Amino acid sequence: MEAIILVGGFGTRLRPLTHTVPKPLLPLANIPMVERMIRNLPEVFDTAILAVNYGLKDMKEYFKGRDVGKKVVLVPEDEPLGTGGAMRNCIDYVTGTTAVFNGDIVSSIDLNKMLEQHIRTKAKGTLALWKVADPNRFGVVEFKNGEILQFQEKPEKGTELSNLINAGTYLLEPEILEMIPPKQKISIEREIYPKVAGEGLHGFPFEGYFIDAGTPESYLEANFKSIGNNGTAAHTGANIRGSVMIHENAKLEHCIIGPKAIIGPNVKLEKCIIRNSVILSDVNGYGSVVEESIIGPNIKFEEDVNRSLISPKGQITF
Ligand code: GDD
Ligand code: MG
Repeated sequence: MEAIILVGGFGTRLRPLTHTVPKPLLPLANIPMVERMIRNLPEVFDTAILAVNYGLKDMKEYFKGRDVGKKVVLVPEDEPLGTGGAMRNCIDYVTGTTAVFNGDIVSSIDLNKMLEQHIRTKAKGTLALWKVADPNRFGVVEFKNGEILQFQEKPEKGTELSNLINAGTYLLEPEILEMIPPKQKISIEREIYPKVAGEGLHGFPFEGYFIDAGTPESYLEANFKSIGNNGTAAHTGANIRGSVMIHENAKLEHCIIGPKAIIGPNVKLEKCIIRNSVILSDVNGYGSVVEESIIGPNIKFEEDVNRSLISPKGQITF
């Protein structure tokens, strides 16, 4: 069984970080976002199909010869085909019921349970649904007795049908992929789901957490969630507070790490306090307090920073 992961976006809101690393390869608790998604796929999935556009070269290089627990197929697009066009572009690699993921989502969804429901209800498609207070930035559904009766993508504020949004995780039968015209830019959310709604499109509401890791704030949050139960309890040179993850290669001296901090590989820090922050690989830091910031890869710092994203291509304050 195959899972398509849509990883074509530019990661605009994470610039300048995404000028040097494509978003799917940005780490969450020291493992690239897309690799985490692949590793988290239930056993029934043997293949991950990555619908790639921006960042193809880096992704090819990353996955070449690397064992991530599943077969990985990269399917490139010459031009961005949109969410639907990108899925359709993968059709030759699909053998039946397919899972599709927006590549920027970190969630607590139980895919096995969702698959069990999808099969039991004989749905054409099942969409994971999440409740939010402010739904207009998302796909919004009218949901009744397990079925999605209407789908609206990013509706005007005040016109939303409900508080239930499309959580960017789908199980689809081949007939839905076949509805998408080939070789065209198509949004599945704008052009296909509204048509299938009321005609066998089901919903799978879930609870726990749902994070679209596309902004500096949500990227930090997704990192801290991804620590899970694999946090670091002790590391030479670090006084650890709360939940943190420190890469085994990191060299720390007289540092206070946490609460909530990720320290990447080949990082060297001396006399630093790191809180609510992600320090990416190969960073060198001295004598600083770092709070709510993302730093790296390959950066030197010697000043206190707060709410900043600092990468080799520049810095923003968020
Ligand atoms: N290959 C490929 N080609 N992937 C693409 C393309 C493309 O042309 N365009 C977008 N994607 C990928 C993005 O990389 C992302 O992983 C996913 O498709 C969704 O695109 P976003 O640009 O992140 O959409 P969004 O966040 O505004 O809205 C989507 O996600 C919401 C949940 O976070 C929609 O699916 C909404 O309905 C949904 O509520
Ligand atoms: Mg998104």
